[in-house]
Amino acid sequence: MYPIERAEQLNAEVTRMVVRAPEIARKIKPGQFIMLRIDERGERIPLTMNDCDPDAGTVTIVFQAVGATTKRLAQMKPGEALHDFVGPLGNPTELEGVRRACVIGGGLGTAIAYPQAKWLYDHGCEVDVITGFRTASLSILEDEIAACSARQIVMTDDGSNGNKGLVTQALQQRIDEGADYDLVLAVGPVVMMKFVAATTRPYGIRTLVSMNPLMIDGTGMCGGCRVKVGDEYLHACVDGPDFDGHLVDFDDALRRGVMYRSFEDEARAAATG
Ligand code: FES
Repeated sequence: MYPIERAEQLNAEVTRMVVRAPEIARKIKPGQFIMLRIDERGERIPLTMNDCDPDAGTVTIVFQAVGATTKRLAQMKPGEALHDFVGPLGNPTELEGVRRACVIGGGLGTAIAYPQAKWLYDHGCEVDVITGFRTASLSILEDEIAACSARQIVMTDDGSNGNKGLVTQALQQRIDEGADYDLVLAVGPVVMMKFVAATTRPYGIRTLVSMNPLMIDGTGMCGGCRVKVGDEYLHACVDGPDFDGHLVDFDDALRRGVMYRSFEDEARAAATG
């Protein structure tokens, strides 16, 4: 069993939870994820690591209460424990040698992009972080990002926090200002990642995107997480979750996302009666 040490709401939809899992905390790296189950009959859900503390033996996850399982998870309190907490899964993000990076988080993707920004900052990289949210009340992790970035640019759809507009507008502006990135890393909605990749393509800037399709087993067996990259289908769970943004077929990913959403909606309706 994996005890919950802390849990707090970051906004009305998003929870940050610190889980005691010493083995994983020793090994997990930015970009990798875990699969958890609340109890032995529960659904397995993948969640990307937000932070870890190898000395304390804890792993931090941040999640949005959108499905039946994440809604149950959001109601759990310190002192309760998770039945399974398996990982680290997937590959760490390739960050070695990067000198100037722009890390982009859209919505909850900000929590997933945070450990990469922190790792880069801790290893001497100049890091710009651009985050995008629908509105101010959904903004998360501003203090944490301020502590590990040379520049933090917040964008909101309605202009209620930071600047009004899209993350791609802020990215284009930074490029126009002469920002000489050797890596752009984007984590967020597929549409956002698609347009980040389209923004960097003309400049040939190495661009990584973190794909988060439906995952069932997390071990390459079920085929649920396939992503079209170049001419081949790869598995986000064992080949990713990061891929070259200039090779990912985002339209295919969007089609598959829509296909699965109807299954998820049915599962949620069944679970909630
Ligand atoms: Fe099943 Fe990746 S989650 S193959």
